[in-house]
Amino acid sequence: KVKKDKMTILVLGLNNSGKSTIVNHFKKSNEQSAIMVPTVGFLVEQFYTMGVSIKAMDMSGATRYRNLWEHQFKNCQGIIYVIDSSDRMRFVVVKDELDIVLQHPDLCNRTVPILFYGNKSDLEDSLSNVKIAAALGLDNIKDKPWHICSSNAISGEGLDEGVQWLVQQIR
Ligand code: GTP
Repeated sequence: KVKKDKMTILVLGLNNSGKSTIVNHFKKSNEQSAIMVPTVGFLVEQFYTMGVSIKAMDMSGATRYRNLWEHQFKNCQGIIYVIDSSDRMRFVVVKDELDIVLQHPDLCNRTVPILFYGNKSDLEDSLSNVKIAAALGLDNIKDKPWHICSSNAISGEGLDEGVQWLVQQIR
């Protein structure tokens, strides 16, 4: 059973989507943050927000590391899936990657909440949440609670709202 005040979340998404920038935002607002395990392929970061200690596993989006993601599925209580909302060319790749995650045996029978950040919402050609949800077929996710938030990881806009939702799901 998950301890209420501690959670492990995976931060997933293609390379360049903004994962590290998002994790850094939460670290910055928190003195206790520290890099725990610098490992090739992912970083484990600890920060405290909304009364919960979060162990965030910031997984590299580089193709050669994506098979590392699935080893962490068993131990996670939540997923943050970061999408570059301006990178229309790669939406098909995002959908393929997401489908692999959703169908993974360690996740498909669990009600692990998934928070999507439609990141880089500040860029002119960014897609709205509604369009991202349609492009990725998010309405087909029936077995897990999910939520999509627009975010600008550089200014921090939208980030707290998203994590607030995620923490509420797990509590
Ligand atoms: P990998 O480590 O390669 O998997 O990338 P990542 O997903 O960790 O992306 P990272 O946080 O390194 O961000 C990639 C680039 O996008 C950087 O140059 C960021 O400054 C930029 N970036 C991140 N978030 C935003 C955003 O909301 N808006 C804009 N305009 N740029 C952003």
